[in-house]
Amino acid sequence: MADSARLYASEADAHTFATNLLAANGVSQQDASLIAKCLVAADLRGIDTHGISRLPSYLARVRQGVLDPKARPTLTEATPVVAQVDAHNSFGFVASSMAMSHACKVAQTYGIGMASVKHSNHFGMSAWLVQQALDEGMMSLVFTNSSPALPVWGGREKLMGVSPIACGAPGGPSSPPFILDMAPSVAARGKIYKALRRGEQIPEDWALDAEGERTTDPAAALQGVMLPMGGPKGSALAVMMDVFSGVLSGSAFAGGVTNPYDPSKPANVGHFIVAMKPDLFMGLDDFKERMEVLYQKVVGCEKMAGVERIYFPGELEQIEEVKRRREGIPLVQAEVDALNGEAAKVGVELLKTRSASQ
Ligand SMILES: NC(=O)c1ccc[n+]([C@@H]2O[C@H](COP(=O)([O-])OP(=O)(O)OC[C@H]3O[C@@H](n4cnc5c(N)ncnc54)[C@H](O)[C@@H]3O)[C@@H](O)[C@H]2O)c1
Repeated sequence: MADSARLYASEADAHTFATNLLAANGVSQQDASLIAKCLVAADLRGIDTHGISRLPSYLARVRQGVLDPKARPTLTEATPVVAQVDAHNSFGFVASSMAMSHACKVAQTYGIGMASVKHSNHFGMSAWLVQQALDEGMMSLVFTNSSPALPVWGGREKLMGVSPIACGAPGGPSSPPFILDMAPSVAARGKIYKALRRGEQIPEDWALDAEGERTTDPAAALQGVMLPMGGPKGSALAVMMDVFSGVLSGSAFAGGVTNPYDPSKPANVGHFIVAMKPDLFMGLDDFKERMEVLYQKVVGCEKMAGVERIYFPGELEQIEEVKRRREGIPLVQAEVDALNGEAAKVGVELLKTRSASQ
């Protein structure tokens, strides 16, 4: 049900607004439309932390000259199946989309395609790249590194990023695709920024403050560290993201990526992308039948006490997407104000929203 404290933007209005705002800040129409699509995809899937509300932080970087809105990424083939993309400090969305597009094209011929991306920026929600591969009928791995937020296990300083691990595979004839997209922390840091924007508290197990104490205050949490999921295992996954996305690509690593909210210097993010044909070892129909069996077994298994329904990874977000396409994307007034503040700076039409009662 729609929430009376929220303002709602339709998918189309959010996309038009974001495209126009980016274009008015020097981004080409084609890139602006792509970036807008990725941000709106996050909003639709319920990943509000990585949706259009991120635009003010990205535009602060553009204005500061630390993210080049006009840069064109370049792609070099290292082998027939491996490519290296140099983002040249362009939007992470643009460079990683190019990498995935090439990986999928190569995988059509060779079964697998791989690409690394260096000198990039934050690409938001990883699942849009998994979806890009799914739209081409491909399985995928999508890794990125990110700015220091998480201590390594046993450490107390921010060193690793809360760098999401994502992967996907087409679903069965009547089941959704598999889409895993998760940060190696108890919660994504974007959830803390969202709580701060919305004036909300955070759960006690998400982060420590600067003194190493658990905190429910998002501002205090941002001064401290995020807590890894599963203790040393979450911390090891964050190191894994840095090995594949940072060390391997030639981008920043070991704590060298700049925070997307710090407009003082380029971010130098690295990404690692693999696309794979699902019918490498059997026919596509067989693969899909097996995915169907897996899905039915997962969602149909005996539930623990108090659980009403079991979901496949990515399914909750797909359900949310159906709802938000119908009801619109919920935003709080402060987020709408920040977006419209950006619009006013460049003379772009304000974001159209309606309240739940309208
Ligand atoms: N680009 C970056 O640097 C960056 C950094 C951090 C996070 N992020 C993004 O933030 C987003 C949020 O990350 P997160 O770790 O908070 O995600 P999350 O905890 O909400 O979800 C993680 C995964 O668990 C699955 N899941 C969640 N609840 C489930 C349930 N009840 N049953 C079955 N599966 C379930 C989801 O489908 C998802 O695949 C991601 O899209 C990520 O890409 C991006």
